Amino acid sequence: MPASFTRRRDLLADAGFADADAALAALAAEVEGLGLRELPRPHDLSRLRAHLAARLGRVPADQLRLARLLPAWLAERGGDLATALWLAREEHGAALDLPGFALAAWDALAAAGRDAEVAALGRFLFDLHAGWEELWGSPEVGHRFLRAREPNPLVWRLLEELAPRGAALQVLELGCGIGNDAVGFLDAPSVDRYLGVDLSQEALDAFAARVAREPTRVRPELRRADFLGLLRGGAAGLGSPNLVYSYSSLHYFSSAELAEIHRLVRELLRPRGPAGYFAFGIKGQGSIWDGQGLPLYRPDVWVNGDGQSRWFPSREALGRQLDRAGFEVRFHELHDHWGYSELGKRDVFHYVLCSPRT
Ligand SMILES: C[S@@+](CC[C@H](N)C(=O)[O-])C[C@H]1O[C@@H](n2cnc3c(N)ncnc32)[C@H](O)[C@@H]1O
Repeated sequence: MPASFTRRRDLLADAGFADADAALAALAAEVEGLGLRELPRPHDLSRLRAHLAARLGRVPADQLRLARLLPAWLAERGGDLATALWLAREEHGAALDLPGFALAAWDALAAAGRDAEVAALGRFLFDLHAGWEELWGSPEVGHRFLRAREPNPLVWRLLEELAPRGAALQVLELGCGIGNDAVGFLDAPSVDRYLGVDLSQEALDAFAARVAREPTRVRPELRRADFLGLLRGGAAGLGSPNLVYSYSSLHYFSSAELAEIHRLVRELLRPRGPAGYFAFGIKGQGSIWDGQGLPLYRPDVWVNGDGQSRWFPSREALGRQLDRAGFEVRFHELHDHWGYSELGKRDVFHYVLCSPRT
């Protein structure tokens, strides 16, 4: 499924579009018709505006006026994209020209010279077909996760916490990437089995090549799949993990999807009772990318420059979510790293270990 798909659909549903899929289809048709995907990146703002001019000439004047308020709404008035779309839909009802309004908002950001927001909105709202592979492969996005690094301290923290319990760990990693954290598990005496899942074949190939070069005590099993789809399929294809682990891969999901992931992980672990563990790291409030790009839902969901939406929860917000999802928290720490997402800059991560509440 293309990146951001569910967030986009939820955004339109929240704005009051009864048939969000039809609204997305109308948007897709415009994107195709205008040849937006073919425009070179990063956008040259004056070329982009010239490209949009004819289409904007067909947007009703009052809708155009509203769309042009977007830069001030976002930057000076504490607004976000969700409320801007809701307002437009409330004001104009079925007469709202959604693609025209969205393109006019994009044009207004370009007119204000706001490159970062132009990139974020373009990738999020108009790159409708961009899947993860395309995103990870874009040179201008430049994600660092395809480079080898030391395992995150969360791995050592978990092994230290769980080893005294004497469990032989059967690890399922959601979004394993090139195995940066996995290599920590694969050589640990307490780990018996490891299954890593990722959408990116490039990442899985790099992971396989890495362990072929430097064999680990446990041989990893790697699977290319959408982990949400796999979890929906139940325990059958997943063995019976007692540790579900994920690093930096859960903050992209919409709140409904995340609640579903939590429910499915809890079901998967439930037969293990208190000896079933769910551990993850996600960026949090104060992260390097918190507040960067476009505010999607204030205060803590942002579309970053790569067009991905991320949730940057506070400690309290994440705690509430885990409680609602039926998890008992074993530890919840905030960690501060240097140089993970952007070289030489600090980042804030939640480190969590929890178990299904009995
Ligand atoms: C920021 S990277 C983190 C990778 C790795 N955990 C690390 O810390 O180096 C996010 C990873 O999650 C993967 N991913 C995102 N959504 C996914 C999904 N629905 N199913 C499987 N993998 C997914 C991406 O392909 C990417 O490898």
